[in-house]
Amino acid sequence: MAVTRTFSIIKPDATKRNLTGAVTAKLEEAGLRVVASKRIHMSREQAEGFYAVHKERPFFGELVEFMMSEPVVVQVLEGEDAVKRNRDVMGATNPADADEGTIRKEFALSIGENSVHGSDSEENAAIEIAFFFNDDEIVG
Ligand code: CMP
Repeated sequence: MAVTRTFSIIKPDATKRNLTGAVTAKLEEAGLRVVASKRIHMSREQAEGFYAVHKERPFFGELVEFMMSEPVVVQVLEGEDAVKRNRDVMGATNPADADEGTIRKEFALSIGENSVHGSDSEENAAIEIAFFFNDDEIVG
């Protein structure tokens, strides 16, 4: 299995509750390596741009406001089959549907305040990584 990269966000509900380390520990226990990380406070432009694919959804406004509400930690994760590995450890989008042991089962508050974002494909991972990081900020 090839070593690949994915993109992760530790969301405002998690940073606000001081769970950055706890979430990162779950990622590392799942075999993912943090090869880039920065704590940022998203601007409206960043939040709307990042989630542009959802702009017709009824929850878009709420999603953008939430992502701007507190700092987030954006990360690049590396590991074997990183996109799937990360999605497995994150758990289902809605924490009510998430499996035991997953980040969202353990930490998420609701479908909106669901603690983490992870890319859904390698193609989107590359786009999302480039949205927040320059190549020289990623140290594998
Ligand atoms: P994420 O993986 O970051 O991608 C889009 C986000 O939209 C998703 O996680 C959820 O946090 C959010 N989302 C999806 N459905 C809803 C919903 N019904 N209400 C509020 N937020 C939602």
